[in-house]
Amino acid sequence: MNIILLGPPGAGKGTQAQRLVESRGMVQLSTGDMLRETRKADTPLGRQVAQVMDAGELVSDEIVSAMIDEKLASLAPETGVIFDGYPRTEAQARSLDTILAGRGRKLGHVIELDVDEDALVERITGRYTCATCGKGYHDRFEQPGVAGVCDKCGGSEFKRRPDDNEETVRTRMAEYRAKTAPILPFYEARGIVTRVDGMAPMDDVTTAVERVLG
Ligand code: AP5
Repeated sequence: MNIILLGPPGAGKGTQAQRLVESRGMVQLSTGDMLRETRKADTPLGRQVAQVMDAGELVSDEIVSAMIDEKLASLAPETGVIFDGYPRTEAQARSLDTILAGRGRKLGHVIELDVDEDALVERITGRYTCATCGKGYHDRFEQPGVAGVCDKCGGSEFKRRPDDNEETVRTRMAEYRAKTAPILPFYEARGIVTRVDGMAPMDDVTTAVERVLG
């Protein structure tokens, strides 16, 4: 099964994708994570990507679609894929159709996480991850069992994303409204979009997502 998790920054796409990876053995393809890897490299591309991300704007369609195609090529055809943060523009949605068709894959569901934008700034500015294993936490909503120690790997170093500040978050939300939300009708016309209440507690969101996937 191949699915898209769609929603504005902080809607919970990454959180829910991680849970599906654990419960169903699906693979999460997050263009945000891929770009964060790319920006680590001291290359012209790495520097260009870092600049765009830190401004809260979108990286070019060609770059992200090429990354997705390359990742899919490395997966066994029967592996279920969760697209997290991709597609984000109509051009990317069309590219994804071509990429999936080329690999004999079909899109099963588009799950839209419906959220109240005002709550998202708090969600995003409060989140952090374990620097060792990447497990996500939040200052208010999801703290480690023992303060300062990662529940998953026992690591004690944590990090925050450079684009998780209020000003950049506002730009990312504006980008979502202008360029990403308009792709919903593209999928609605195929009858594969389900809206899930992303403001519910995390476990309830997971239950609703699992119900959609059946
Ligand atoms: P990306 O990394 O994709 O970021 P994003 O879409 O802005 O989404 P986030 O990762 O911020 O949020 P999320 O929905 O995953 O929320 P999370 O689960 O972490 O993209 C970053 C940048 O890369 C973009 O700005 C752009 O520059 C570039 N980029 C990426 N893809 C691109 C593409 N396709 N094209 C062009 N450019 C691209 O949850 C947030 C917090 O809330 C967490 O702390 C979590 O614990 C908490 N939380 C989650 N659910 C709940 C809940 N139900 N209740 C309470 N708290 C919750």
